[in-house]
Formats: sequence, C-alpha cells, structure tokens
Amino acid sequence: MCAEIEKIKQQMQSLRTEIEQHNHQYYALDDPVIPDTEYDKLFARLQQLEQAHPQLITVDSPTQRVGASPLKEFSQIAHVVAMLSLNNAFVDEDVEAFDRRVREVLLSNSVEYMAEPKFDGIAVSLRYEKGIFKAGATRGDGYVGEDITLNLRTIHSIPLVLPPDHSPLLLEVRGEVLMLKADFLALNERQVRMGEKIFANPRNAAAGSLRQLDSTITATRRLAFFAYGVGEFDDPDLPRDKQSHMMDYLASLRFPVAKEAKIVSGVEGLLSYYQSIGSQRENLSYDIDGVVYKVNAVLDQEKLGYVSRAPRFAIAHKFPAQEALTQVLDITVQVGRTGALTPVARLQPVFVGGVTVTNATLHNIDEITRKDVRIGDTVVVRRAGDVIPEVASVIIEKRLQQAQIFHMPSHCPVCHSHVVRYADEAVFRCTGGLFCPAQRKQAILHFASRRAMDIEGLGEKLVEQMVDHAIVRTPADLYKLGLTALANLQRMAQKSANNILQAIEESKHTTLSRFIYALGIRNVGETTAKDLAKYLGSLDRLMTISDVQLQQIPDVGPVVAQSIVNFFAEQHNQEVIEQLRASGIHWEEHEGQSPQSDAIKPLSGKTFVLTGTLSGMSREQAKEKIAMLGGKVSGQVSKKTDYVVVGIDPGSKYDKAVSLAVTLLNEDEFMALLQDHQQ
Ligand code: IVH
Repeated sequence: MCAEIEKIKQQMQSLRTEIEQHNHQYYALDDPVIPDTEYDKLFARLQQLEQAHPQLITVDSPTQRVGASPLKEFSQIAHVVAMLSLNNAFVDEDVEAFDRRVREVLLSNSVEYMAEPKFDGIAVSLRYEKGIFKAGATRGDGYVGEDITLNLRTIHSIPLVLPPDHSPLLLEVRGEVLMLKADFLALNERQVRMGEKIFANPRNAAAGSLRQLDSTITATRRLAFFAYGVGEFDDPDLPRDKQSHMMDYLASLRFPVAKEAKIVSGVEGLLSYYQSIGSQRENLSYDIDGVVYKVNAVLDQEKLGYVSRAPRFAIAHKFPAQEALTQVLDITVQVGRTGALTPVARLQPVFVGGVTVTNATLHNIDEITRKDVRIGDTVVVRRAGDVIPEVASVIIEKRLQQAQIFHMPSHCPVCHSHVVRYADEAVFRCTGGLFCPAQRKQAILHFASRRAMDIEGLGEKLVEQMVDHAIVRTPADLYKLGLTALANLQRMAQKSANNILQAIEESKHTTLSRFIYALGIRNVGETTAKDLAKYLGSLDRLMTISDVQLQQIPDVGPVVAQSIVNFFAEQHNQEVIEQLRASGIHWEEHEGQSPQSDAIKPLSGKTFVLTGTLSGMSREQAKEKIAMLGGKVSGQVSKKTDYVVVGIDPGSKYDKAVSLAVTLLNEDEFMALLQDHQQ
C-alpha cells in the first residue's frame, strides 16, 4: 500500500513538474511546445489524482493557482530589505547630470549601465524559502506591504517552485505585476458584456485585480509578472558581480524578464536606448512609462549608495505621460464628411503625451453614456502615439453637483438641418448634405487627400477659409481658382498660392479609381473604388449602371450598390462631375474586366483580414501585395474570411478569428504565402 501511494506521489510530482514547465513555456516565454488540449489533459490527470488523494495536494501544485476563499482583509508583511523608489529624469539634461554624479563618485570616464523598460504596473516582492513560493507582498510604504500571496499564486508566470537544482534557503524576487495590453482590451470587452465596470488602463486593471480579497476573481484575470531585481536572499548561486548577471540568473530560474533590457555605456548609450525603446513603445505587448538605468557593477552600486529613499546608482527616465486629469468645459459636436456628428469634449488645456491637448473625442453618444461623461466632470484624457486624444474615463468622486448631462442636438450646429439617427447606426447625422458647410469642407478635403486626387498643400486651414469665403463650394470650384482669389486668403504668400495652383493642375492627370474614391460616395472606400474602376472601366458605365448589375461585382452588396445609384441620381452630383471633366481632369479608360478574369490569379477568391502591426511592411503595402495576387482585403472577420494575418498587438479581429476558427497567419507565414504565390 505504502509503495503504491509512493508511486502515485511520484507520478503527481512529475505531472506537476511537467505542467509547470509548460506554464513557463506558455506564459513566460510565449512559446508553447504542446497544444492546449495536451496541456489540458495533463492538468485534468493531476486534478483527478489530487481529488482521489487530497492528502497529497501540495501548496506548489499548479492546480492551486485557481484562487482560495476570500479574505476579510490583507495582513501585513514587513520588507527586511526596503522596497525603495527611483528618482526621475524627465529631460536629457537630468540624465547627463545623473551620469556625471555617478562618474564623479566612481572616478570613471565611462560607466557601464543596464538599461531596462520601466514597467507600468504594481511593484511586488516574492519570497521563496527553500525553493518554494511562500509569500508575496505589495510595496506598501516601502517598509511594510500587504500580503497578497493568494492572488500572486494565480499568476501563471510566477513560479510556485524553483527548479529542483536551485532551491536556495531564501530568495526574494522583486518585480512588477501588469496586464498585457491585449488582455486588458479583452477584459474590458468582457466587463462591458457583463455590465461590469470598465478599467481606464492596464495598470488600473492590474491593480484592481491584484487587490482582490477574493483570489478566485484574480484567477479570472490574466496578469503577468516581470522580475527586475532581488530583495533579501541567502543564495550562494546568486551572482553578486553585475546586475545583468543577476537578471540572467533570475531568467534561468524561470522568472520572466524584459527581453528589451540591454547593457549600454556612457550617457550616449543611455539616451540612445531611451530613443530606441520610445520608438518601440507602441508595439510592446505591455505598457511602460519610461526606462530605468542601473549601474551594472554591484560593487559600484554599493559605493554610490542611497540618498533618502532612492538609490544613487539608478534612475527612471520617464516618457511624457500619456494620461492626464483635466476638466470638461463643454461638449460640442463636429460634423464630418458624411454628416456624422461626433461629440467632442472641450477641455481645460492639459499637457499630455508631450503636447497640450484642448479637445478630445468622445466618439459617439453611446460612448458618452457608457462612460457617463458630463459637462464639468474631471476626466482622464489619454493620448497614445499619434492617436487622437480621447476621454478615457470619469473621476466620479470629483463630480460637481452642477455637472450637466449632454444631449445630441436635434439640428446641425453648422447648417441647422435636421439631425437623424438611422436605426442600425451608432451615429447621428446631419441631413444637410453638401448644403452643410461642414460636410462641404470635409468633402473637399477628402477629394484633395493623398489617396484621392492628391493635391499637395490643400490642408484643413486653407479649405476652411475657401469655403467660408465662398470661393470654393464644390470640388469643381478648385479647378476654377485664380491666383488673385487664392493670394487674397489669409497667410497665403504668392509663392505658396502658386504651388497650390500647380498641385491642382497636376492632379488633373489621374486614374479612374482615384477619381471614384475622391467623389466621396458613401460606403465606397478605396478598395471598392478600385474594383469599380477595374470591372467597369469607364465613369459613364458607373454613372448609368443599375444596382442589380453593380452587385455582380465582387464585394459589392446591396448597401454599396444603393449608395452608388443614389449618388449619381443626384442632379447636383452630376453637374459637379460634368464641371470636373470640363476642367480637364482625365484618366485612361478601358473595356472593363469581367469579374471572372481574376480567377487566373493565384489568390483570387481569397479574403484576407489584417490585424495588428506588421514589422516588415505597412498595412498599405500588405494590401497591395494581396491585391496584386488577386486576393481581397476586408475590414471584418466573418466565416467567409480565408486568412487573418496577425501582426504585433492584434485587436479584437484576432479573437473573432479564433472564435470562428479562421486560419491565422503570423507575419512569417504570411510572407511565405506571398512568396509561394508570386507569379
Ligand atoms: S528597479 C531601488 N527596475 O518603478 C529601486 N523598478 O519608480 C528598485 N519599476 O517601485 C527599482 N520597472 O515598481 C526597477 N525595470 C525596473 C522597473 C522598476 C518598473 C517600478 C518599481 C519601482 C518604481 C520606482
């Protein structure tokens, strides 16, 4: 009997080791070696054995990551080695001053540093005794933190046991718990579906998930951990010569560490690292708020020591904040090309992401309702990269009594036409069409835009003035412009007026597909415009074709066909087109291809959807390559999609593809497929 039990015990132990190995591959290295179903089988087998022999369940069993009974409150844990904070550098001069102080103390000309991303998460300390994860705590005030052991145990990338050949008496690993951007988006989608609160950013989501008294809730949230240092230890194997060696050691013990960490030297090395990580920031799978520089040699670190609560051997070089608090002074609406009304928050100016922001989009009325944004509210404004600033969330605690609920206007604020909302749309629209100056401005801007008629220099300010002074009412008027009328506009020197006229002249030589796209027909984007040009071959054919015939063209459905027919039925549109042609706009026409002739191309009939960023080419280039081989690119994943190309940081299209079991291609596979079909 005893021997039997011993055998089961050994079997359980080897299952645990195997499962943890796969956990590490999957969660820490992002490189699973077995399919999920195989993993599930191993897990189920272990659970079965544990159910049959509950006395053999160990605290380090992977089955114990699912959370435990709720706590009444967190108890406290003292940090024997304090968890200090870092001083911040905001500008290059701060970094130069830091490096100078370091060199002065070390009497050195050039210092070797370890440069790392600064994770934007929650600092934690993990205590391993004899190789077993015993306790984990928050930073707290640096000296005493909260015991969040049960929650930390649910994080799959935190080892519950260290590898058997490395079981030091004591090792405290310090690092940051965070939520990957993709998991954050998925969590918020889920929260919306379940009518639960949404989180403003991954950091808040991570903090909220980690500070749960009920660890079964934490277990449902996907959190990640990255190690960046060591606290108390009694471990002869821990390298004590260099920070970088210590990190290699932690990685060998299966702690996730930042792949982007790098050894650099001198202030030049630091600043170029800052630039390089800054440019990768958007593409990283997690949020960072800067980089951290640490003197690499531990003896030198000790020489430098600490000032008050921060080390002198390390510094955080922060990126400009991407979020800031400010007040909504008003909510107004902007009218777009198709008459869509977009609510915009007018803000108390605030410095965020390196620029002063005064407006932020609120997308549509449903978003305002969901986020419950009111005039007068204090809000979090977010600006990531080149993206338009948006109101991320409201600080409800700061709501003023007189805060006002916003209502969509019943009339267009620009032309006073009626505003309508079609049943199947999220947006409200002005019904004024090209009578509405706002729509007219946008229509002209679209007409002149790069992928349409490509009139360089015809920007927003200029079009605004042209429409306001009634010099230009329709795109056709652009081709009637004279030097005097242009030069009379504000801030328009003779030379730039000449350049614009030149650009307008050059735009006359174009292609049919550009011209169709430039017309701004509702639901006709660039791809549809290309198809129409390809299959019909001439504008006259497009202007006279029936909606039934239009639907013979691949990807033209009833909605698009109807928009096209409606557009050309409009007398006004016909006149503008006539004038445009009379002004000398021309392109080559042809017979038009029958939809079947594409069948010879290698990817014809195949539909692709792109999500995430590709590292080797832009989205435009990818679309072009697919189109050249006869394939189609669609914006939405459906059962009919053949391939979803998944780049870095994919969006919800990825989840959709997974749920519909559509074939996924990573960038390499996609490139290989293109290569295979190259003619
Ligand atoms: S080292 C002695 N390295 O930043 C201080 N900290 O502003 C040791 N943080 O509380 C900290 N990424 O939570 C270090 N690569 C990194 C970090 C990092 C994020 C956090 C950490 C710390 C805070 C200080």
